[in-house]
Amino acid sequence: MGLLDTPIAIHSGNKTFSTSVKGEISIVNVDFSYDNGVKVLKNLSMDIRAKSNIGIVGATGSGKSTLVKLLLRFYEIDHGKITIDGINIQELYLHDLRLAIA
Ligand SMILES: Nc1ncnc2c1ncn2[C@@H]1O[C@H](COP(=O)(O)OP(=O)(O)OP(=O)(O)O)[C@@H](O)[C@H]1O
Ligand SMILES: [Mg+2]
Repeated sequence: MGLLDTPIAIHSGNKTFSTSVKGEISIVNVDFSYDNGVKVLKNLSMDIRAKSNIGIVGATGSGKSTLVKLLLRFYEIDHGKITIDGINIQELYLHDLRLAIA
C-alpha cells in the first residue's frame, strides 16, 4: 500500500474550549504502542496543573517525545484517557487542540 492510500486514523472531535485554555492536563492509565506493537507507554498517569512548569526525564527511547505526540494527537492512544481542562482530547476539534499546545 502506498502512503497516499493510508487511511486517516485521527478523527476530529467537535468540542471547543468554553473559555480560554487554562492548560490543566490529566493523563489517566494510558497505554500506547506504535504499529510494531511494542508498548512504549504502559498505564501512564499524571496530572499537570495549569500554569505549572514540569520536566519529563527519562532515558533515550523511554517515550518523552511520544507523550508530546499523543498530546497533539499525531497518534491515538490504545487505552486510557487524556484530558485538557477536563475535556477528552479526542472530543476536541483537532484544530483547537493543536492551537492550545505550543
Ligand atoms: N514512529 C515510530 N514507530 C515505531 N517506534 C517508534 C516511533 N517513534 C518512536 N518509536 C519508539 O518508541 C520509543 C519511545 O521513543 P521516543 O522518541 O518517545 O523516546 P524519547 O524518550 O523521546 O527519546 P529521546 O530522549 O532519544 O528523545 C522508542 O523505543 C522508539 O524507538
Ligand atoms: Mg525525544
